[in-house]
Amino acid sequence: MSEIELLNQIENELEELSDSAYEEIKNTDNEINLEKLRVAFLGKKGRLSNILKNMGKLDSKDRPVIGEKANILKTKLQEAISIRKDTLINFALDLKIKDEKLDVTIPSNGIQKGNHHPLIATQDEIVDIFCGLGYTVENGPEIESDFYNFESLNIPKNHPARDMQDTFYLNDNLLLRTHTSPVQIRYLKDNPPPTRIISPGRVYRRDAVDATHSPVFNQVEVLCIDEGINFSHLRGTVLTFLRTFFGDLPIRFRASYFPFTEPSAEVDVQWKGKWLEVMGCGMVDPMVLERLDIDSEKWTGFAAGLGVERFCMVRHQIDDIRRFYNNDIRFLKQF
Ligand code: DAH
Repeated sequence: MSEIELLNQIENELEELSDSAYEEIKNTDNEINLEKLRVAFLGKKGRLSNILKNMGKLDSKDRPVIGEKANILKTKLQEAISIRKDTLINFALDLKIKDEKLDVTIPSNGIQKGNHHPLIATQDEIVDIFCGLGYTVENGPEIESDFYNFESLNIPKNHPARDMQDTFYLNDNLLLRTHTSPVQIRYLKDNPPPTRIISPGRVYRRDAVDATHSPVFNQVEVLCIDEGINFSHLRGTVLTFLRTFFGDLPIRFRASYFPFTEPSAEVDVQWKGKWLEVMGCGMVDPMVLERLDIDSEKWTGFAAGLGVERFCMVRHQIDDIRRFYNNDIRFLKQF
């Protein structure tokens, strides 16, 4: 083939490609086929490369002419393909929108329902049990005076019982309460017996944080004063409460010491094969009553105090107290 013939052939083929390509692009009805077409026209082994494969044999003055023509055609085909692509995308979207009719009357998925924090739920349950036994709920301040937190409960300055609780002072007289027991005194001061109250709330101690200690935790205080109340009433009430809460676990009373009760006891429940201390209790020391001008010959009573975290940990087999305060939604969701 002569050089002229080759030139003509290439020019014709470019024209043919140009003539048929636009029509084919316009007739493609989806993106996949359009991509196939692009490869067939412009790919390495596509029609355009094929047409130009003998370009090297052209006269050097013709080569740039053909090169330019080929480049223009290539750009135009690319443009046409890209325009078609946009059209196809929009078309598919329109179809989808038409297909997916929105029913505004369908109820929404709603906002995820929250639930009670496990500690609050446990506290509520404890409160419920005592309410069932005729107790009412009283509250006291978390910033407490030395008098209510210690003195009035037979814990004078320098008493060794202060050791474990000598903690967050705001000044010489005020501190963050170390237990809920001061609510006993605050209540009795204004409300003469008979008394049946419980007092849930936060307490503070300078404890180092570990799996079972936190400087802030929750207690529930129990106080019952009436004529003729004795240790059997204490025992009966505590047993009823613990059995209602824990079910039929073995329970034991162990002699102990608290400055504001006499005699005093600690109560253990058997858990995972071991005795676990769950609350302190005792008969209200007559001294405590006398200081409040309550006749301790006529009125007797018992008191008890428990830690809500421990009850919750035993109930739900929680291994680390810190889980309660970390606000990890994956943990809290389980309750
Ligand atoms: N207040 C005590 C404490 O935090 C617990 C306690 C023990 C409370 C005996 C009582 C009680 O009412 O009678 O360690």
